[in-house]
Amino acid sequence: MKPGSPEHKRLLCGFFTDSFVDFKPESIRFPDLAPSDLERLKALPVWEEAVKTEASTALLVQTFGRKVRDADFREAIAMNGFEEGRHAALLAGLTKRYGIEIPEADPKPDDDPEWGFLRVGYGECFDSFFGFGLFALARDSGFFSRDLVSIFEPVMQEEARHIIFHANWVAYTRSEQPLLNRGAFAFKQALAAGVQTYSRIKTALRSAPTRRTSR
Ligand SMILES: [Fe+2]
Ligand SMILES: [Fe+2]
Repeated sequence: MKPGSPEHKRLLCGFFTDSFVDFKPESIRFPDLAPSDLERLKALPVWEEAVKTEASTALLVQTFGRKVRDADFREAIAMNGFEEGRHAALLAGLTKRYGIEIPEADPKPDDDPEWGFLRVGYGECFDSFFGFGLFALARDSGFFSRDLVSIFEPVMQEEARHIIFHANWVAYTRSEQPLLNRGAFAFKQALAAGVQTYSRIKTALRSAPTRRTSR
């Protein structure tokens, strides 16, 4: 299949919308946790960053979705944005349910919606590379109760769909560019990947425990 062909778009948008799973974050019932489980959950230093990232991703994807001219891509990207909004709502529900205090997310739109979409897509690739492994570890090791972990299984599935969609949307969009613009798009793409990698490294360093040195 040729990237940028009508068949590529049909398969990509069809796969994305056909694999949508309908669930409402507000109807999810978070299980009661044993005191030790609750303590472990609360001690994870990820909640503020996770809620912030999901809320920002939702805003950026939804904003871009409204600007897309092609009806098939518009529908798929709007769905992607809707799912990101559900992730943010699900995390907000979890933090509220277990009394994890975090500031309310205040996402900012990007002046260039395409740039925003490119960035969040690469951010998701980067996060998922580690996130999927950590999720499997949490599930298989019994570190958290199965009931709690299973609530996030659909989120993992959705993030995988988003990455497949993003990678293919990039390939499609690049091949659609007039020859002279392709270099500029490839540069924007590489820059977005670089910016997201840098921002994730910065976040990781910020959340790393500071080592005390004795003299
Ligand atoms: Fe998400
Ligand atoms: Fe996502």
